[in-house]
Amino acid sequence: MSQQPLPPAPALNLDDIQGDVILGIPKRVEWFLFFKIVNPAHFKKHLKQLIPAITTTNDIVKARKAIDDHKKKGDPGLIKLSGINVSFSQRGLNALGITDNLADPQFAAGQFASAQDIKDPGQVVNGAFDPAWLPQFKSHDIDGLFLFAGDSEATINEDCDKVFHVLGSSFKQVFKVHGNVRPGKEKGHEHFGFLDGVSLPAIASVQTPLPGQLVVPPGIIVVGADGDPNLASRPSWAANGSFLVYRQLNQLVPEFDKFLLDNPIQEPGLPPAKGSELLGARLVGRWKSGAPIDITPKVDDPALAADPQRNNNFDFSGVADQSKCPFAAHVRKTNPRSDLTNLFGADAVKPHAINRNGIPFGPEVTPQENHEHKTHCDRGLSFVCYQTVLANGFEFIMKSWANNIGFPLQKPVVPGFDPIIGQNGNDARTMQGTNPDAQTATLNLPFEFVVAKGGEYFFTPSITALKTKFTA
Ligand code: HEM
Repeated sequence: MSQQPLPPAPALNLDDIQGDVILGIPKRVEWFLFFKIVNPAHFKKHLKQLIPAITTTNDIVKARKAIDDHKKKGDPGLIKLSGINVSFSQRGLNALGITDNLADPQFAAGQFASAQDIKDPGQVVNGAFDPAWLPQFKSHDIDGLFLFAGDSEATINEDCDKVFHVLGSSFKQVFKVHGNVRPGKEKGHEHFGFLDGVSLPAIASVQTPLPGQLVVPPGIIVVGADGDPNLASRPSWAANGSFLVYRQLNQLVPEFDKFLLDNPIQEPGLPPAKGSELLGARLVGRWKSGAPIDITPKVDDPALAADPQRNNNFDFSGVADQSKCPFAAHVRKTNPRSDLTNLFGADAVKPHAINRNGIPFGPEVTPQENHEHKTHCDRGLSFVCYQTVLANGFEFIMKSWANNIGFPLQKPVVPGFDPIIGQNGNDARTMQGTNPDAQTATLNLPFEFVVAKGGEYFFTPSITALKTKFTA
């Protein structure tokens, strides 16, 4: 894969960009506090006091170094660490009297307006689409979002108390989601059991890319930076901000496991349990360990998974068919690598890169749920991603890739839906290529393993913008 060298980018001001946008706040737990602004004048006055407590990207650089030093010393336990970030919906900007157009129509309209387009389940009521979302996300009350992330509930509770203390009655909580990294060996794995957060874009001028990692101009993630496609139409105060997508995605884990159990890939000499494991890997495009099936298609390879020099170094170009990886596998749909660059040039994937920083929520599956193959409590992914153009990032991935049965393009079969996040409104989905020996066979995906429960689009302003536009 040949890659054009990027023009040298001016260095980003890492003291001005909130900490979750590029590097992600290190976390074992994270709270998402969705809030409404009750008294805009008081809110602006009080927020000023909170600005020193907002975590910047440079704070994260230091925090990560502290974690590395702690690990090297072999000290037991986690160091006490926490971070606070704040973001606003268009509704929140309106409440604060900020009238500038941020040049992102999807942000301005809010995620509710996109629900039908991204094929969230729901129904038309009196001519208007009503997504099957949690009522909180339909309340039209969400002006902003505080992220609290850190090593423990006790630590982030202190930060949360501080915010409530400072903002007082100028704002009110609409609701709060508690995310937590899964326990023990499942640390870093999402609820279906697959290692998450393996492949993220490297931001030119900030991060040194690992082999196979997509390098994007900083303006794909940071507004106003080199490569921001809408640079010319943004107000200058939007620089160093980013658009945050929050999605509450419930995962039906016992049902997903049962589906794998019922549909093992059958190959001579492959025990059914291994066939189920292989099907799971072929739906995601990686084994549960994180090892990519494009490199190790038949058996898991935990040593490969753990090696950052190798675990992202693939581009689906080795074979033209689906013998290694189904065209519709989740990681292939959401980062098509050579499927796209072969057709449209080396830069084709870059505009669609997103920086993902979500966290699982909800308890571990109980023995009863396992036994009944039925979900009894809410669990899933608090999906968070950052980008500078929602129509190129999250919305593009959902509409043009995950939900588009014809994508990747120009393949000998119709690839079908992304089995993990592809949506078809209230209708069932199919995909092809899960069975390496019968690649045109259609697999029926009888229900959505991941259920969209709502969300919102936010803008995460720079520290300078917080000082100049959001405070008084
Ligand atoms: C509950 C829902 C989801 C689950 C269980 C899930 C799971 C995973 C897993 C296991 C990986 C592979 C590890 C990695 O490379 O980080 C992955 C990668 C990825 N996911 Fe998801 N994901 C979910 C939702 C989403 C959504 C909503 C999007 C965007 C619309 C998305 C976009 C991506 C991207 C861009 C990658 C990286 C692909 C690559 O670069 O190879 N995911 N996801």
